[in-house]
Amino acid sequence: MQTIYYDLRDTKGQQKEIEDKISAAAKILREGGLVAIPTETVYGLGANGLDPNAVKRIFEAKGRPQDNPLILHVTGAQWLPRYCRDIPPIAYVLARKFWPGPLTMILKRSPVVPDETTAGLDTVAVRCPNHPVTLSIIREAGIPIAAPSANTSGRPSCTTAQDVLEDMDGKIEGVVDGGACTVGVESTILDLTCEPPRLLRPGGLPLEDLERLIGHIDVDKAVTGKLEEGEKPKAPGMKYRHYAPKAPVTVVTGSPEASAAEITRRVSPTSGVICFDEYVHMFPEQEVHALGPAADKLTQAQRVFDALRTFDGSAVTEVYAQCPDNRGLGLAIGNRLKKAAGFHIIEADSQRIIFGLTGCTGAGKTSALKAIQALGGQIIDCDAVYHRMLDENEAMRNAINEKFPGVFSKEGKLDRRKLGEEVFSKKDRLAQLNEIVFRFLVPEVERSVTKLPDGLYAIDAINLLESGLDRLCDRTIAITAPVELRVRRIMARDGISEQYARLRISAQKPDEYYRSKCDCELNNALDTPAEFEKLAVLFFQKLMETVREEKRHGA
Ligand code: TXA
Ligand code: MG
Repeated sequence: MQTIYYDLRDTKGQQKEIEDKISAAAKILREGGLVAIPTETVYGLGANGLDPNAVKRIFEAKGRPQDNPLILHVTGAQWLPRYCRDIPPIAYVLARKFWPGPLTMILKRSPVVPDETTAGLDTVAVRCPNHPVTLSIIREAGIPIAAPSANTSGRPSCTTAQDVLEDMDGKIEGVVDGGACTVGVESTILDLTCEPPRLLRPGGLPLEDLERLIGHIDVDKAVTGKLEEGEKPKAPGMKYRHYAPKAPVTVVTGSPEASAAEITRRVSPTSGVICFDEYVHMFPEQEVHALGPAADKLTQAQRVFDALRTFDGSAVTEVYAQCPDNRGLGLAIGNRLKKAAGFHIIEADSQRIIFGLTGCTGAGKTSALKAIQALGGQIIDCDAVYHRMLDENEAMRNAINEKFPGVFSKEGKLDRRKLGEEVFSKKDRLAQLNEIVFRFLVPEVERSVTKLPDGLYAIDAINLLESGLDRLCDRTIAITAPVELRVRRIMARDGISEQYARLRISAQKPDEYYRSKCDCELNNALDTPAEFEKLAVLFFQKLMETVREEKRHGA
């Protein structure tokens, strides 16, 4: 199928030509075809909303899940009684103030609206878009236009006709180019079938503007957080990710200074960054997409999908995104970023302090961990996490089983000795196991860490530096000690000969390795563990002060 491109960017041009193009688009729609249309929010993929077959084609072209209903686009509130029933007066109040504009209302549906459009719900979504070309097309077609965002399902919404062609060329009859969308994020969806009304999707019309007119509005849980498995949002579309990039996205919230600083601590040269204009210079090595000035949410809304879209064609391994606060359009911008991130969020302003402790045997890591506990801190024992994952994490178990066939019994029980023998006999086998474990362990620890309340934490991991767990730490600390002392300590602790103690130490990395790779060093040349613990308490106390101060100032 050839997609016809209608250029209507300049509506002040040839009046006759413009009218012809509008008529042509309206005709295709009336006859059951698909035409992408411009709106002030994002481009829509339009079809006759009363024609089940035309609507079915929308789902096919987008690859959209069948259970996700569509919005009917109309030219004004006078169309409401045709497609809705039991319309509350407040719907007209809202329409008078905000239509045409980025507000979608959920109302009870009338039987003329087919199940295909509403995905079988007894409600229907209606909106009047604020775009002269599209309003003319709908008026001329004389039918309500069902139009989801014109992207392939799972991709960011389209804010230019070019974006639409990228996703839809050859799949639809036409694209009407009405210029770049001025709002940039989709409409705000408000459910008026409940009391108080409920915000189902934040969008181009800020929540505050709505509340100023009609009073308190409940905010659906799906707007701010990830739903539990099996939980259903009231707007079915809110459960889907809007953007499934190859590279995982992490959203960093907090003051712009703090979130930018947090991102600088986390990026590598292969990271991508979405940040406010003021912070672009902080990422000279990274691929950066500027979202607009920190204080200019209008620009951020216009750019957010474009920024996400651009990373689709890039080779970055991860993307970090600065996030505006929740006021005004910020709620919608943040929601789109967070959805793209699968709600993987880091709070830059949090008062959660994480220290990563590492070092050789006999240096005093155990006493240092006790010092953390003495300060009211908690230990994140990565060895315990690893063992739990060996029992519970199917993906990790499968990956291990593939590389080390036979280490799991038929009943699925891991033979630890067998795996141990395998990896300790050959160095490259250990590296292979580590690669698998690190790949699963780091995100697991990261997920649990971001859920922790404020406070002090220490990550206890043998391979803190090698695994990448050090990324999660505010500071990494090398616990070091003179070799002679370590020899004597482990002889006493483990009841082994001097020769064996030296052998064990020589098999490990030297202090120098940890010293050069960690942020700071805590040297233990003291005689007893109790003395060292006291020293460590003072050391960590001071370090906490420094980190707190840094977080406060977003350094
Ligand atoms: O700005 C917009 O609203 C754009 C432009 C093209 O108008 N359209 C748009 O449509 O964003 P779409 O299909 O991408 O998103 C519609 C959202 C989905 O999350 C869907 O689940 C929800 O609206 N929705 C539609 N009908 C609903 C209903 N009856 N009850 C609850 N949610 C509904
Ligand atoms: Mg959409």
